Amino acid sequence: MRTCRIAPSILSADFARLGEEVRDVLEAGADWIHFDVMDNHYVPNLTVGPLVCAAIRPHTKAVIDVHLMIEPVDSLIPAFIKAGADIITFHCEASRHIDRTLQMIRDGGCKAGLVFNPATPLSYLDYELDRIDVVLLMSVNPGFGGQSFIEPVLEKCLAVRERLDRYQAETGRAILLEVDGGVKPSNIARIARAGADTFVAGSAVFGAKTKAGYAEVIGSMKAAVAAAWSQKA
Ligand code: DX5
Ligand code: ZN
Repeated sequence: MRTCRIAPSILSADFARLGEEVRDVLEAGADWIHFDVMDNHYVPNLTVGPLVCAAIRPHTKAVIDVHLMIEPVDSLIPAFIKAGADIITFHCEASRHIDRTLQMIRDGGCKAGLVFNPATPLSYLDYELDRIDVVLLMSVNPGFGGQSFIEPVLEKCLAVRERLDRYQAETGRAILLEVDGGVKPSNIARIARAGADTFVAGSAVFGAKTKAGYAEVIGSMKAAVAAAWSQKA
């Protein structure tokens, strides 16, 4: 049985109380903190940078999963490594030299991931699986929280799962499959059945407003994933 990870996106948190929000959501059962970085260039929105990542680092030992929606990518990677990121992912279209960017992240001691927009072809994976720790499939167009899940991404997810399983059978190395955008208690079972193991959820979790609410949403997501995986077996 695979491990299910829930990664709340702080994009929907209360930024005025970010340290507390990070602690609350982890105490409520979250596994990772998903940290969305937007530059108003690669995507039409502006969020947070390495300073804020460094500010939340002392609040938790949990994995900080930095999702870079920025272009260019390479110049900011050293700052996020220094800020305490555990995982750094970037979009295929945002790096001119994907192999170099992946290498740069790993040389800095972080796990590296490639992000695919809904329309980005999976061919970017063809020669790079050995350097990838996480595949992140966007199930909305990047830039904003609270959008609706794009259904054809489920088919794409199945295709990636098949590819990663084949790779694991050949090499013994597991690559994580993360889905980001519009994930909710009502659709997470279908996403889990399509092969994802790591689920980003922003508005669904933080929309619950209180720590008890976060625990309820995260608990129902984990239960739905466990049920989906046990039905499949
Ligand atoms: C979208 C971001 C997300 C997203 C998640 O560009 O990468 O992580 O905001 O938020 P929800 O779960 O609200 O779609
Ligand atoms: Zn994200």
